[in-house]
Amino acid sequence: MKKRSTFTGDFGFVMAAASSAIGLGNIWRFPYLAAKYGGGAFLITYIILVLTFGFALMIAENVIGRKTGKGPLVAFGEISKKWNFVGVLATIVPVFILPYYNLIGGWVLHFTTSYLSGTHGTMTDANYFGDFLADPKRLFVLELIFTVGVTAIIMCGVQKGIERFSKILMPVLLILAVVLSIYSITLPGAMEGVKYLFIPNMSNFSLQGILAAMGQMFFSLSLAMGIMIAYGSYLPKDADVEKSVSQIEIFDTLIAVLAGLMIIPAVFAFSHGDHDALNAGPGLMFITLPNVFASISGTRIVGSLFFILVLFAALTSAISVMEAIVSSICDKFHMSRNKAAILSGAWAMAVGTFCILGYSTLSGVRFFGGMDILDTLDFLTNSVLMPITALLTCIFVGYVFGVDKVKNEIELSGKFRREKIFNVMIKYVAPIFVIAVLVSSVMSSLGIINF
Ligand code: ALA
Repeated sequence: MKKRSTFTGDFGFVMAAASSAIGLGNIWRFPYLAAKYGGGAFLITYIILVLTFGFALMIAENVIGRKTGKGPLVAFGEISKKWNFVGVLATIVPVFILPYYNLIGGWVLHFTTSYLSGTHGTMTDANYFGDFLADPKRLFVLELIFTVGVTAIIMCGVQKGIERFSKILMPVLLILAVVLSIYSITLPGAMEGVKYLFIPNMSNFSLQGILAAMGQMFFSLSLAMGIMIAYGSYLPKDADVEKSVSQIEIFDTLIAVLAGLMIIPAVFAFSHGDHDALNAGPGLMFITLPNVFASISGTRIVGSLFFILVLFAALTSAISVMEAIVSSICDKFHMSRNKAAILSGAWAMAVGTFCILGYSTLSGVRFFGGMDILDTLDFLTNSVLMPITALLTCIFVGYVFGVDKVKNEIELSGKFRREKIFNVMIKYVAPIFVIAVLVSSVMSSLGIINF
């Protein structure tokens, strides 16, 4: 049997997994959620969740991957045949995330090249983004270029593709994030935004803020989407899983905070402290920020650097989403890596085309009270399938696989330092929280409750 590829060691794994975690979730989603739910109050809640719940689930997924040496589709069934269905669920998630993630990657590619080539002048037009979305041919080409890039890197392999690109792109991303944050906080009037990000504002914080922080944590740490199981399956047996998981969490949270520092103070400076400018939700990055950049000197340079950063983040995360699918296909159907990658890329384009047409020809196709096709896929994966997968993973690891086996696997390379937190989280706290997330997110998305 062919030996499974592995990362070169702890560092290679941390870089690859961190580059999976750091993505659109950190740069696009985190700042607008933090702005919406009380700044510092959201940040503190988020950090507590990352250190407890996120830590437990990331350990659990990596251990399942490393123990079985298999991607998500096969790994659960290897341990217990009856639980094979959880592996199926954990694989369906990336299968449906990839098409729309790559589409958004295509949007980012367009914004990056527009700033780089100096054709960004019309981005401040009120209808710019709407008109952009209504052009299916252009969106298709952009998504295709992005998908070909992701597929090509996957085809280069675990070490020469995923790990090598992560090691190149992550340091650049970190430097850009630091430079842009410093620039943003030194803009006139920006300090108000810094205070807004760090000082807890309890009046905007609610139960929904906690649930939003939890959903954000899943998405941002690449949990419950098969990725950490796939990456865990490439972990050498002597790698220190616990230490690596801590480093990934620190890196991911650092970039989220830097993204908050890049965006919130700049928007404050632009809007003269008007909080409403931050409430643009998902449009913050594609509509509000181009306006912010247009109002400062050095628009083209700042816009280019910012969107290069977002592009790198999106690219390395899309790679991991595709890898979760590719590793599953290879393990289950014994297909070659190249064929599996091409198949996944073709799938992403096929379903992505429906998402694209959802803004033009198929704009009348709506689900769940008015969601377009992209939003529907996002809702089904993030708000429904991911909490279900997370819940089943906790139950599986806590009660079927067993916490003792987790301990044994971790202790192949030293003491399991946060064992107690892990056990309590995975067996009791996490399942209850996940049920709360699931019920509330479905109800609020369907308009049944409004916190
Ligand atoms: N973890 C990835 C992100 O934040 C999926 O975008």
